[in-house]
Amino acid sequence: MTLLPPASPFDIVIFGGTGDLALRKLLPAFFRQLQDNNIPKNSRIICASRAEMTTEQYRSDVSKALAKFYPASSHNENTLKSFLKLITYVVLDVVDSKNQGWQEFVNLFSKTSAEKTRIFYFSTAPALFAPISENLSLHKLITPASRAIMEKPIGRDRESANAINDAVGKYFPEDCIFRIDHYLGKESTQNILQFRFSNPLIDAIWCGKYIKNIEITASETVGLESRATYYDTSGAARDMIQNHLLQLLSLCTMERPKSLQGDDIRNEKIAVLKALHPLSPSEIKTNSIRGQYIEGTAEGQAAPAYATELGKKSQTETFAAIRSTIDLPRWKGTTFCLKTGKRMNEKRTDIKITFHNDVDLFPNAPKNKMMLDLQETNDITLQLNVRSIGFSQNHDGLRPLTLEGSYSPPAGVRTPSSYETLIMSAIHGDRSLFVHREEVDAAWKWIEPILNSWEVNVPALLYYPAGSSIPRFADSNDA
Ligand code: BG6
Repeated sequence: MTLLPPASPFDIVIFGGTGDLALRKLLPAFFRQLQDNNIPKNSRIICASRAEMTTEQYRSDVSKALAKFYPASSHNENTLKSFLKLITYVVLDVVDSKNQGWQEFVNLFSKTSAEKTRIFYFSTAPALFAPISENLSLHKLITPASRAIMEKPIGRDRESANAINDAVGKYFPEDCIFRIDHYLGKESTQNILQFRFSNPLIDAIWCGKYIKNIEITASETVGLESRATYYDTSGAARDMIQNHLLQLLSLCTMERPKSLQGDDIRNEKIAVLKALHPLSPSEIKTNSIRGQYIEGTAEGQAAPAYATELGKKSQTETFAAIRSTIDLPRWKGTTFCLKTGKRMNEKRTDIKITFHNDVDLFPNAPKNKMMLDLQETNDITLQLNVRSIGFSQNHDGLRPLTLEGSYSPPAGVRTPSSYETLIMSAIHGDRSLFVHREEVDAAWKWIEPILNSWEVNVPALLYYPAGSSIPRFADSNDA
């Protein structure tokens, strides 16, 4: 579905222009949007980084990156030429305001109308978000038509997240800040709202009276990749649960929004994140699991232990599971469970809903289950019970019935990548797929006591061989 209204011409500045994210995801996303005619004439992509090189050299790196990360780009030479023309490269030390690069950077905007949409994309380490904002302000580059896009991680705890949000918030009002969680740009994540609220059949049973458990899993086969420094200070819970999985949970459990406008959706997400039941120290012991992979097999090949990949011993978790409840009347009777791990036996992201069973007539009936596959296939599976064939004295014989459907796009319809969706939403000023600072804060507030307890090894770190399946809580059949 490519039904975007035309955007006004914009300038986007990517700080961290030579970084992996820019070359692997952001620039290919712009290229595809140019192919779809969604980039208006007179728009510019300005990439800034400390690396000394000319715009020509940078453009040549971009075309190599496109050939690698979006090979089809080379089949369309004309679009490639027009795309490279959009790009300007500036050598810039973002921290040093007196650096000569700033003057050249400022000059790029000297003839630009203050009304032109100006987007500053902070694709750098979070420690640079504040100095970049300060220097943009010092050089009078922040116009009323300016927006800031911030990548995760926003901090490593509540205090550091608030410090970043305060520092950037001094220069950009909250409604001009677009915090990215790339899971929110995925088609399958966006579908949660439509699935819940456009189907009265689903909407009617979406509460604790019927739903026993909501289990959200993001299992990965990859290990550390080349992110040792970042990952070891983060771990699975900070890397995936504080943001991606809590965002998925908030979409699954928020109340019906007044409208599908950004603020109405975000207000309901904030409300549910604030109502997550905080785990007490004794609950943390029984309702959280943390693990780290040791040597094993991943994707059919021998895989080293985390500590070997890292080159030192570490207590950082590469698997995490947390179970809790939501302190809202709607969710009385429901447990939720968030699980994620690296070097597991499969790559999958899904939401499994388990329903209470009918204890009166069919106390032994298997529980109904619904599975939303958010990864590749976009399948929805519903597990029901039907009558067992033949005579039955008690009339309680049951057999399973599985209904399966896929909401993958029809043939010929292209699904945009999450970065295409998010970048185009920011260009259009639509904040519904971005994270409000209160969501970031509520998520940290809930998870921080758990992380603090893990710091003192409660519960103890478990070790699992690479290639293991996602562990379950010992006392539960459901999660
Ligand atoms: C990122 C995490 O945010 O999400 C990575 O930092 C993780 O560690 C990635 O691998 C997973 O994203 P996806 O889209 O492949 O599920």
